[in-house]
Amino acid sequence: MALNMNDIQQEILRLKKEKDICILAHSYQGHEIIETSDFTGDSYKLSVDATKVTSKNIVFCGVHFMAETAKMLSPEKNVYLANPAAGCPMAEQMDPEMICEIKKREPDRKVVAYINTTAALKTVCDVCVTSSSAVKIVSAMPEKKLLFIPDCNLGSFVQKACPDKDIMLLNGGCPVHAAVLPEEVAEAKAVHPNALVLVHPECRPAISEQADYVGSTTGIINYAVKSDAKEFIIGTEMSIAEHLQYECPDKKFYVLSKKIMCPNMKLTTLMDLYNICRAIGTDEAKLNEIVMDSELIAKARVCIDEMLRLGG
Ligand code: 13P
Ligand code: SF4
Repeated sequence: MALNMNDIQQEILRLKKEKDICILAHSYQGHEIIETSDFTGDSYKLSVDATKVTSKNIVFCGVHFMAETAKMLSPEKNVYLANPAAGCPMAEQMDPEMICEIKKREPDRKVVAYINTTAALKTVCDVCVTSSSAVKIVSAMPEKKLLFIPDCNLGSFVQKACPDKDIMLLNGGCPVHAAVLPEEVAEAKAVHPNALVLVHPECRPAISEQADYVGSTTGIINYAVKSDAKEFIIGTEMSIAEHLQYECPDKKFYVLSKKIMCPNMKLTTLMDLYNICRAIGTDEAKLNEIVMDSELIAKARVCIDEMLRLGG
């Protein structure tokens, strides 16, 4: 007999119990994945959640650097990425050699890395931040001179919020959020004049400046849920507008731009999640397993621990 989506979700729930699996899913995942997960949220929340997992196995639905972060925070657990092809292009934009060269020229700058970076790059950075914790962490740092990598849009958002800091930026960023053009805000407002504009700080500064609220995935969700307003234009990955529509059926959500769809976040399907849950305990699961050298974990974890200390 053919399985429907609900049957597959039920099978995943059964396999979770049978094999002692905890599922972490970033909010950019599809609704059917979010429904079967134990922890969901933005990058910061999922990092904190990863430290609380008691199961032997973690399956991450998101992109590679997120599963790598979960592995670093729970090295004794088996961590699997539901779709091993899901990577974040921003995480690969800069390499450790390039940052070490800048550090030689600017030795008094502390390096702040957006969590969307590889573990190898994290080893040469001083502290990690996420979109929801960046302003808090940078404000709490005693140093004034910083190098913020890789996202220059998030970096300039932090610079505006922390005018006493001298933040050097490089030319990196999220290709999905950066593809949205400032004029698309006026176009969306013309169609939905009563809607509030909520955007992610990975968008260009000319977009953030026009928004009613700028914040992380979780920040946008919380703002929309608590707001008395009834209509919202959502300037982050389009799945957030969908999740909000499920959560607030009496409100209306519109996507700021049709371009704001992350193909990497969309790679993971419910079938991928089902297949990895089935494979755990067999050689087949090795394809999805995050394997990291203990020396790399020890070096890269320093700036993640610093993030949790300053952002907590
Ligand atoms: P947050 O999870 O911090 O909102 O970041 C969004 C993102 O682009 C993750 O890749
Ligand atoms: Fe990377 Fe941007 Fe996709 Fe997030 S939305 S995973 S930053 S490409």
